[in-house]
Amino acid sequence: MLGRRRWMITVAGVFALAAAGLGCGKNEGANEWKVGAYLSLSGAETQFGVDTKEGTELAVEEINAAGGIKGKKVKVIYEDDKSNPQETNNKVLQLIDRDKVVALLGEVASSRSQVGGIAANKKKIPMISPSSTNPDVTKIGPFVFRVCFTDDVQGRMGARFVVNKLGKKKIGVLYAADDLYSSGLATEFMDEAKKLGAEIVVEKKFPKTETNFTTYLNDIKAASPEIIYASVYYNAMVPIGRQAKAAGIPGSMFVGGDGWHSDTLVNDAGEELEGAYFTNHFSPDVPWPNSQAFVKKYVERFKHEPSALAAQGYDSAKLLFDAMARAKADTPEAIRDAIAETKGFQGATGTITINEQRNAEKPIVIVQIKGKKFTYFDTVTADK
Ligand code: PHE
Repeated sequence: MLGRRRWMITVAGVFALAAAGLGCGKNEGANEWKVGAYLSLSGAETQFGVDTKEGTELAVEEINAAGGIKGKKVKVIYEDDKSNPQETNNKVLQLIDRDKVVALLGEVASSRSQVGGIAANKKKIPMISPSSTNPDVTKIGPFVFRVCFTDDVQGRMGARFVVNKLGKKKIGVLYAADDLYSSGLATEFMDEAKKLGAEIVVEKKFPKTETNFTTYLNDIKAASPEIIYASVYYNAMVPIGRQAKAAGIPGSMFVGGDGWHSDTLVNDAGEELEGAYFTNHFSPDVPWPNSQAFVKKYVERFKHEPSALAAQGYDSAKLLFDAMARAKADTPEAIRDAIAETKGFQGATGTITINEQRNAEKPIVIVQIKGKKFTYFDTVTADK
């Protein structure tokens, strides 16, 4: 008997020691929130991931400096999906199964948020995409949210800007046929432009990997549009801008969507795209007090201005933390419910309300490229 009791005491002691050891080691598990962020930190759309990560980091530093959430610090585990869908799936499953995250932040590109969203929804882990705008992303299911507007709204507002504000009636359209975001946004834009009485005089699609746009641009020029809507990412818009200039198409003829947004665009093709407009989530010179407070903090921390992606990354994390604090329990399900109930959240990118479809209702910013800089032009309020 005695022998057995002594043995049990020893076992208890070992457990106590082990627990204490773990407590000051890397495995502080119970004392911190684990959130997973999957982003393109390398590969074709590196800038998307890098910018978003900075915004997210700022939000994490702020919440932890303020004591964390319900007395627990937040730890964000970042995973690089290499701008690749297969890698995205692996990394998201790793965050869920290995790291046991309570929530996920990501991705930027709609095609990858779709992959990550399917995994998150299946495993019942809430996910918030900072900037994926394709409508299909949140349609995946109840665990998938976003803090940005959607492309049905963005395309509609873009078309109204082109037709009603700029007064253009003959439109050329250029997009990547095999990219969810690019082709989806082009379709939404064309539908609305036609409704408004404009004519799509030429429509050119290219494969996502295309680098030489001269033939497409010459075909567009031959159809004599008054304006060209290019719903493409910045990494395609740089060669398009440059090759358009060489083909005699002025940059001011182009209008695009949020995918244009990266400093790379103005640095590498800012001159060629002088005067072009695009719809976006944010601009560092946007005249909203909340946004300006964010810009100031961001510049102090990172020594450069925040991009729209950084602002969206910040808002996705902040909104998640706000929901975690409100959640009725510390579980992924309860956090999901709290995200779904978000109303009038004061973000760096405007006031955000999560609607029934798990999308964000918020304003859209129109940005113009002027003197190789992104310049705030106007705000349009999205209708339902
Ligand atoms: N909206 C784009 C998509 O859904 C991603 C993006 C957002 C790119 C903001 C640039 C800036 O794929």
